[in-house]
Amino acid sequence: MKKTKSTIAFGDFQTPLPLAKQVVNFIDKKSLNFEVIIEPNCGLGNFVKAILSTNKNYKKIIGWDINKDYIKFLKQDTSKYSQVKIDRQDFFSLNWDLLNCQLQKPSLFIGNPPWVTNTELAKLNSKNTPDKSNFYHYQGLDAITGKSNFDISESMLIKILNFISGGKSAMAFLIKTSVARKLYAYICKNELAISEVSIHKIDAWKYFQVNVSACLFFAQGNSCHIKNLLCPVYNSLNETIPNHNIGFINQKLIANITMYKKLIDIDQGCEFKWRSGIKHDCNKVMEFELREGNLKNGFDDLVNLENTYIYPMYKSSDIAKNTLILPRKYLLVTQKKIGDNTANISILAPKTWIYLQKYAYLLDSRKSSIYKSAPQFAIFGVGEYTFKPFKIAISGLYKNLHFTKVGCFNNKPIVLDDTCYMLSFDYEYQADFVLSLLSSEITQNFLKSLVFEDNKRFITASLLNRINLKAIAFHLGKEKEYNECFKKEKIVQYSLF
Ligand SMILES: C[S@@+](CC[C@H](N)C(=O)[O-])C[C@H]1O[C@@H](n2cnc3c(N)ncnc32)[C@H](O)[C@@H]1O
Repeated sequence: MKKTKSTIAFGDFQTPLPLAKQVVNFIDKKSLNFEVIIEPNCGLGNFVKAILSTNKNYKKIIGWDINKDYIKFLKQDTSKYSQVKIDRQDFFSLNWDLLNCQLQKPSLFIGNPPWVTNTELAKLNSKNTPDKSNFYHYQGLDAITGKSNFDISESMLIKILNFISGGKSAMAFLIKTSVARKLYAYICKNELAISEVSIHKIDAWKYFQVNVSACLFFAQGNSCHIKNLLCPVYNSLNETIPNHNIGFINQKLIANITMYKKLIDIDQGCEFKWRSGIKHDCNKVMEFELREGNLKNGFDDLVNLENTYIYPMYKSSDIAKNTLILPRKYLLVTQKKIGDNTANISILAPKTWIYLQKYAYLLDSRKSSIYKSAPQFAIFGVGEYTFKPFKIAISGLYKNLHFTKVGCFNNKPIVLDDTCYMLSFDYEYQADFVLSLLSSEITQNFLKSLVFEDNKRFITASLLNRINLKAIAFHLGKEKEYNECFKKEKIVQYSLF
């Protein structure tokens, strides 16, 4: 389908009839006896057609869409079916109380809501959004997304979830898997009366030519809330045995609850603090490559700077590799810790100061607000830990769980950029020991039990800061080595969560 501005604003990806039929067939197998079927974003109506093709005797089949041309077309196309009622309706102006009075029968909400986020809509200047105050008030600002960006389908389906909660109605929608997880989290957080929820993966590329993890999300209303409700994930619509179960513990989603429960003792918080590398937001000025013994900046200018503030550097692309090569990049590290006075550079390294002055117009106009009240030429993500001789690092950009030991180069500690996370150590034996713990199958399984691999960036500092190294050592029978290794350290023992 050609992606016009309107296609994007209305998240308009019409479901092919064969997929709509597969979904309807999947629901039929559940033998749930619905009397009314509602497709709240019916579009050209392939779900309505798939439902009609089952020859089941539904009392009413309702289709709504905001697009008047679709409604006109579908009305004509289904005019011979007296049980079908197609109307133009903006989902966000639906009167849910009225609908509740009108629908006293078990109903099934089905379909494929718009695939678009509020941020994408804002770029298009589209008004196709829920009343934000209502949506947020409902959930608490970051109760679900954790961010102000949300999928329009998420806000629509939360309305439907609340509607079916406590009754006999159900819902089945084709959505992004990431949205399905947020809906499951919403059910758990808000203790909705839902008895069954499941995710069934579909091939979004095959059916919609979009490269995103997508699924059929199913939820069934119930008379009361079910504690510890799990969300089984099936690899396809035909699969009858789930690949794994998602869980919700301590207000957090768990990707694989069975694996997680075996390793739950590791989830006690890390004794050391995982930090991200240096943030400077001015690659062309602050980063250098070596050319014939000289530093070359991002403008291809060869510069002659004192060694004082120059450090070898790795980026995510270096850290993610299985074999670490010698550093090819260097970074101008203007501070030893956040807030340090940078004016000293003029005395300690005059050539570096002149260089910084030359590019002050770029450094002073860095967009992030963190630089506004900071000293001129300030950087972030810097502290004592930056200059420790040994680090265990992982890339936050790449989708692998590969940890690497980083040491010194030419008598200087190697620093990392802000796409990497690290633990820093004074002694190499400590870094080696921690690397052995983090590279173990136990840690890899623990992390896999927490991360959703289809998330864009699944390695985060908060994820890493959950890993208790002593617990891993315990699993591996290395508790004695652990105690020996860190006998001089003041270990902070976090309590569970
Ligand atoms: C992903 S398409 C799916 C259409 C149809 N359900 C199907 O599966 O083929 C999303 C549909 O939602 C409709 N839509 C977008 N915003 C809407 C709104 N606020 N109210 C009702 N329908 C809306 C679009 O016009 C589009 O037809």
